[in-house]
Amino acid sequence: MLATRDLTKEYQSGTSRLAVLRDVTFEIPQGAFVAIVGPSGSGKTTLLGLLAGLDLPSRGAVVLDGVDLNALDEDGRAKLRGEKVGFIFQSFQLIPTLTAAENVQVPLELRGEPDAATRARDLLARVGLGDRTHHYPNQLSGGEQQRVAIARAFANRPRILFADEPTGNLDGTTGEKIVALLDQLNRESGATVVIVTHDLTLAEHAQRVIRLRDGLVIEDRPGRGSATAMASSEPTTAAPVA
Ligand SMILES: Nc1ncnc2c1ncn2[C@@H]1O[C@H](COP(=O)(O)OP(=O)(O)OP(=O)(O)O)[C@@H](O)[C@H]1O
Ligand SMILES: [Mg+2]
Repeated sequence: MLATRDLTKEYQSGTSRLAVLRDVTFEIPQGAFVAIVGPSGSGKTTLLGLLAGLDLPSRGAVVLDGVDLNALDEDGRAKLRGEKVGFIFQSFQLIPTLTAAENVQVPLELRGEPDAATRARDLLARVGLGDRTHHYPNQLSGGEQQRVAIARAFANRPRILFADEPTGNLDGTTGEKIVALLDQLNRESGATVVIVTHDLTLAEHAQRVIRLRDGLVIEDRPGRGSATAMASSEPTTAAPVA
């Protein structure tokens, strides 16, 4: 479960206060696939940063898997992120001097995972890049780089995966494939997936769509993905990824 209560973020701007998130309150059950949408500047990235414990609110709370992030110091939040959270950025943020496989291996090795190389290869195969493991980022297409970033984000079996505009740099068809892949990994791993997107068509893949405007939640409704989620009544936690 990922819950917020009256989550508010303000910035001091000269003599006035600018509220970029205002009293955002919701609960996201474990395993859900949620899209956050809204116009530029509506607070989507700010919200994701607060949910992932990368940033602290001015008021209100985020409770991640039963832990109130306000109760943790910076080290505690970093530890929690390492254990529970995966993050995918719009700009991929792969390490250019490492191959695809090595990029995926990094978080595994940081955790001292024994079979890091094997697991990295398995994860890349799962995202359709089994034949690109030795490629460097500049030898991969944008969609392929984003799939490496997804494999890396899933490497440590996160409970919650955040993705900020994961399709922002991709064409429409590739964007559809990336969201379909996130949807599949969500079902297989049981991880909660929260994506931010401008693209309403992509947002409809989610089970739930939360819309922001001027830092306020103005809509919170089921997406089309909720119908397919109910149709496939098997438990989503059945088959952990690799
Ligand atoms: N450090 C900061 N100081 C002051 N204002 C900030 C700061 N960070 C963000 N903001 C403001 O907060 C608002 C929300 O920003 P945010 O990045 O969350 O928007 P967004 O919904 O992700 O937009 P986009 O779709 O363009 O990425 C913006 O108006 C921005 O100018
Ligand atoms: Mg943003």
